[in-house]
Amino acid sequence: MTIDLPTAFRIRHLRDESPTVRTFILDGALHAEPGQFVMVWIPRVNEKPFSLVDDAPITLTIARVGPFTEAAHWLREGDRLWVRGPYGRGFAPLPRPAVLVGGGYGAAPLAFLARRLRAQGVEVSVALGAKCARDLVLVERFQAAGCAVHPATEDGSLGHRGLATDVAARLLDKHPDAALYACGPEAMLERLARLCREWGTPGQFSMERLMKCGLGVCGSCDYGGLLVCRDGPVFSAEQVLGA
Ligand SMILES: Cc1cc2nc3c(=O)[nH]c(=O)nc-3n(C[C@H](O)[C@H](O)[C@H](O)COP(=O)(O)OP(=O)(O)OC[C@H]3O[C@@H](n4cnc5c(N)ncnc54)[C@H](O)[C@@H]3O)c2cc1C
Ligand code: FES
Repeated sequence: MTIDLPTAFRIRHLRDESPTVRTFILDGALHAEPGQFVMVWIPRVNEKPFSLVDDAPITLTIARVGPFTEAAHWLREGDRLWVRGPYGRGFAPLPRPAVLVGGGYGAAPLAFLARRLRAQGVEVSVALGAKCARDLVLVERFQAAGCAVHPATEDGSLGHRGLATDVAARLLDKHPDAALYACGPEAMLERLARLCREWGTPGQFSMERLMKCGLGVCGSCDYGGLLVCRDGPVFSAEQVLGA
């Protein structure tokens, strides 16, 4: 069921993932598919979309980058956040080995997907990319779900020195029958979509655009004629390369 009016939830628990990324665990649940998002409202500030890291309890991982996310990071346990959703088309888990590729807080929807895939008995390998080791987020969640985690850091402080896309190519080489699921910076997603096309790998990519309504009404999230809030946020490799 979708909640279409902003509904208040209390923050039950806060967890710092890195100096700028915090996970918010709320005191309520939704019924959502991995990859779907919710609109989060803070009165007198704004309303913005965030991926679900989990739906029960509602869990969000928020990177502090601007006015809205700054206001969210000021909130403390016991404070309220208003949520509506879930919205959009999520990932469609396939019954084959999975390679998940997350850049920065792009790990958020993938952590939810990883748990669902593992519950279906699917082998899951995760390539997580960040500038340095302390910027890697949600690693313990992937490990707790039983995934093999392969970090990539640009400064080489943990795992592979370089990009998560290099690690993804290595993982696809090891699992040629795998499906790829990714979320992160657009350049990373486009590179992975090209890799999928080259290798004939089914790929699903969670994209971002500026959102206002989250409902397919305002048109602000246009993505080459598609709407990210209604037709996505998860798109195929062909849609990413064609947009
Ligand atoms: C479907 C969807 C799911 C999303 N899921 C999440 C999520 O799980 N966690 C999360 O933290 N965010 C997520 N976002 C993005 C989130 O909505 C934005 O981070 C938020 O809009 C930033 O708002 P702001 O007001 O704090 O900053 P803004 O005013 O929007 O931006 C402030 C400044 O930061 C820059 N900026 C904006 N976004 C980023 C960024 N991602 N990285 C670096 N610089 C940036 C802008 O260019 C601007 O200069 C998602 C977006 C979409 C569309
Ligand atoms: S955010 Fe309004 S149409 Fe997508």
